[in-house]
Amino acid sequence: MIPVAKPDVGDRELKQIKEALETGWIGLGPKVDEFESEFSRQFNHEQVIATNSGTSALDLSIKASELSGSEILIPPVTWVSTAFVAWYNNYEIGWVDVEPDTLNMSPDALQERITHETAAVIPVHYGGQPSEIDAIVDIAHNHDAIVIEDCAHAVGTTFHDKPIGSIGDIGCFSFQATKPLTTGEGGALVTDDEDVASQARLMSKLGVNQSTHERSEEERYSWYYEVKDVGYKYFMHDISAGMGLAQLERLPEMRTRRNEIADAYRDRFEELDWVIPLRDKDHVTHARYNYTVRVPSEHRDHIIQHLEEHDVGASVHYMPVYKHPVFEDHNPDVPVTETVWEQILTLPMSSTFTDEEVATVIDAIASYDDGQSINAPEQVSVKPEN
Ligand SMILES: Cc1ncc(COP(=O)(O)O)c(C=O)c1O
Repeated sequence: MIPVAKPDVGDRELKQIKEALETGWIGLGPKVDEFESEFSRQFNHEQVIATNSGTSALDLSIKASELSGSEILIPPVTWVSTAFVAWYNNYEIGWVDVEPDTLNMSPDALQERITHETAAVIPVHYGGQPSEIDAIVDIAHNHDAIVIEDCAHAVGTTFHDKPIGSIGDIGCFSFQATKPLTTGEGGALVTDDEDVASQARLMSKLGVNQSTHERSEEERYSWYYEVKDVGYKYFMHDISAGMGLAQLERLPEMRTRRNEIADAYRDRFEELDWVIPLRDKDHVTHARYNYTVRVPSEHRDHIIQHLEEHDVGASVHYMPVYKHPVFEDHNPDVPVTETVWEQILTLPMSSTFTDEEVATVIDAIASYDDGQSINAPEQVSVKPEN
């Protein structure tokens, strides 16, 4: 079976992990510092705090900020973490509809939905393609709300040449197993705001002002530390950071392969009226995390079954989060999401895939229409192009 996602890890990651095991620093140690510095250098972020997940980075971003208001606005087409971090911090969740052809938060829908009760807006750069982040930041700041970019899918991407994560007030990355840069589990919070950064750093380490590793770096090891604030055990460890260092080196080559696969898919799907890839915008770079297409909703689940019969995995990213039982009281007015989510299908994407595997996916999907005439997916009203 060709899986929907597969981590691309090998000898360089093993070498880094071995090094961590040999030095004995397998918890919070020197490789975490090195990973933060390298991430900051490579993507031009002023402050980087490595965490043990994208969820904890998002949670910290709220905890470390001074917010006013009672609600946090998010798009519904996302992983549940984007929603839960609002609840962890006692904010109401407000849902903002998405653009039908990118699944990113729609600035027009945000303009309609935002109020002076909005404390923060969390746009998700869906599938690795940056949202219209300039417009989102303008709207949010006009309402005294901060913007926390959910960059879980979008490591190393840019919007008008600016690094993603640095355009809003805070950016949060995920390095979970399937992400385009993985540390097994892990994440990072980035910001230009030194106060937020130092508060987030402190809170990520249980409020302890100096870690064992920092104290051991001094001329004489000192047992003394202070707990300055309520904190959380959210920091990254050296085994993950080592993997991350190897992945940072390999990211350009992995990105090139993901782009080649996306191009191969697009070239073939141009010949199929009923398979519509999401729109790639030309003022952004793309991390190619999920390869999502739209197909007619009445065929979507049959296509998934057909692919499975051909040993090709497929999935749906995402059923709108508010449809899960835990959000049973939520019934937002998001007409684009309601239509488009039934059309979306995620195809396999990994920089490990061979040309043969890519051809197998393409042939499997193309063979679905054997003998049938299939209409294009229903159009969803599109606002003027950005
Ligand atoms: C959009 C989005 N936000 C947040 C997260 C949370 O990241 P993590 O799984 O590292 O906690 C994910 C991850 O999987 C995600 O897809």
